[in-house]
Amino acid sequence: VDAERVQFPIPANVHAETVVSVKHYTDRLFSFRVTRPQSFRFRSGEFVMIGLPNAEKPVFRAYSIASPSWDDEIEFFSIKVPDGPLTSELQKIVPGDTVLLRQKSTGTLVLDALTPAKRLFMISTGTGIAPFASLVRDPETYEKFEDVILTHTCRDHAELAYGEELFDQSANDPLIGELANGRLTLYSSTTREISPRMGRITRLMESGMLYTDLGIAPLNRETDRVMICGSMHMLQDVKALVEAAGFEEGSNNKPADFVVERAFVG
Ligand code: A2P
Repeated sequence: VDAERVQFPIPANVHAETVVSVKHYTDRLFSFRVTRPQSFRFRSGEFVMIGLPNAEKPVFRAYSIASPSWDDEIEFFSIKVPDGPLTSELQKIVPGDTVLLRQKSTGTLVLDALTPAKRLFMISTGTGIAPFASLVRDPETYEKFEDVILTHTCRDHAELAYGEELFDQSANDPLIGELANGRLTLYSSTTREISPRMGRITRLMESGMLYTDLGIAPLNRETDRVMICGSMHMLQDVKALVEAAGFEEGSNNKPADFVVERAFVG
């Protein structure tokens, strides 16, 4: 038993879950999986507040749930900020450690906030891919949309690994593989390291490169819906781009053409 943990009792109304596995991708990115409380329900694409039992009043931050709603573990994909109030400590977790989860999940990157259409574009940068890691592994995504195009842009190639693994896993999963086969596309690019595909997603959309690269029709409100997750500036720029194409922002109460959520930072 860790002495530090004995000193700080678990706050009321939070789940105390056990870290099952941790994977470090780069010195800036890592993912981890924790046990799932039996009573914890969420919709794919939502976020939950998480913290560590390392203080009397633990610091909680919003984290998108990266695992699908049918999974018996909960996965997160996180940035590491050296002096971040939570991530400076969170990045040190190992299997067996405890992570705190608040009980209610919420969020706008959910299928319910979009009206029906043919194609779903999921536009992400950095850890903004996390909610989409949940959604591309949810059968409901393929019930609602014929084609799913996931874009992921990072500074360098090593940061794209999480998305590439996700794509391979989804393709090989007995449940999802069959649904995703030929319908799920991963389009990744780098901005600071030379790679086969370079550029910010905004530029790749504006220039039409995204569509010519994939051999698909350009973005069209009649056929398409869009989900966006990344840094604040990325959200602003992609949002402006889809609004210029006539898309209207949706919400849980009023489903429409696109939805936006800021990726966790700090
Ligand atoms: P860039 O390298 O040109 O800044 P970060 O790790 O800083 O969150 O960035 C993740 C990715 O998002 C990077 O490839 C970055 O490109 C890109 N990015 C940053 N700001 C924007 C923006 N306003 N619009 C589109 N992409 C952006």
